[in-house]
Amino acid sequence: MTKPHGSTSSQIKALAFDAYGTLFDVSSVSSCCEGHFPGKGAAISDAWRQKQLEYTWLCSLMERYVDFWELTSRSLRFACRAQGVEPGEEALVDMMESYLRLEPFQEVGAALESLSRSIPLVILSNGTPEMLLKVTRHNGFSGFFKEILSVHALSVYKPSPRVYQMAEESLGLPRRQIGFVSANGWDAAGGRAFGLHTFWINRFDRPRETLGYEPHLEISTLDDLEPLIR
Ligand code: LAC
Repeated sequence: MTKPHGSTSSQIKALAFDAYGTLFDVSSVSSCCEGHFPGKGAAISDAWRQKQLEYTWLCSLMERYVDFWELTSRSLRFACRAQGVEPGEEALVDMMESYLRLEPFQEVGAALESLSRSIPLVILSNGTPEMLLKVTRHNGFSGFFKEILSVHALSVYKPSPRVYQMAEESLGLPRRQIGFVSANGWDAAGGRAFGLHTFWINRFDRPRETLGYEPHLEISTLDDLEPLIR
């Protein structure tokens, strides 16, 4: 375990997890993309994710909510176009369905199982309820979560404070007693700005965001979490 940076807290009474990029590896779609467009799988997958996030931010700012499944589809079409390829309907459906079977990061299953024995866990994600249900079920994680909270109920995306507030309302706990776990630096900043006790998972040794909302703690994998919340 890499030594975590930051302050720990024994006041944490529940954990809320980001889903995409934190529990589930969004780059696991690249093999499916590669199958359709050899040599371009990784580039399509990277552009797909980046554009998907941009579209969430744009829709929120424009106050024109479009659900995450549809934005995932629109961003996939952009990513293909950016790579100079035009997928047919069948390829699009296949790549979209791979999003419902994302692989988890290696340590996630065992870590969630162990954490769920000592503290309530929820998911707090941009995904639609159906997408989240499917990917969670596919990976056998449904039993670990008390609730799956989707932004869909609010028609706005992260990092709107209204989203992080859902965790507070659902768990019935003050924000400082909720640990928010995200590997997305911008999402960790959003949770921190709202006042959640934020853990940023830095699996790939990325630079910290300089936005001004530092995570309470930086960890390298979910395995680092359990000793910190005792
Ligand atoms: C989510 C985005 C941040 O799961 O990936 O909410």
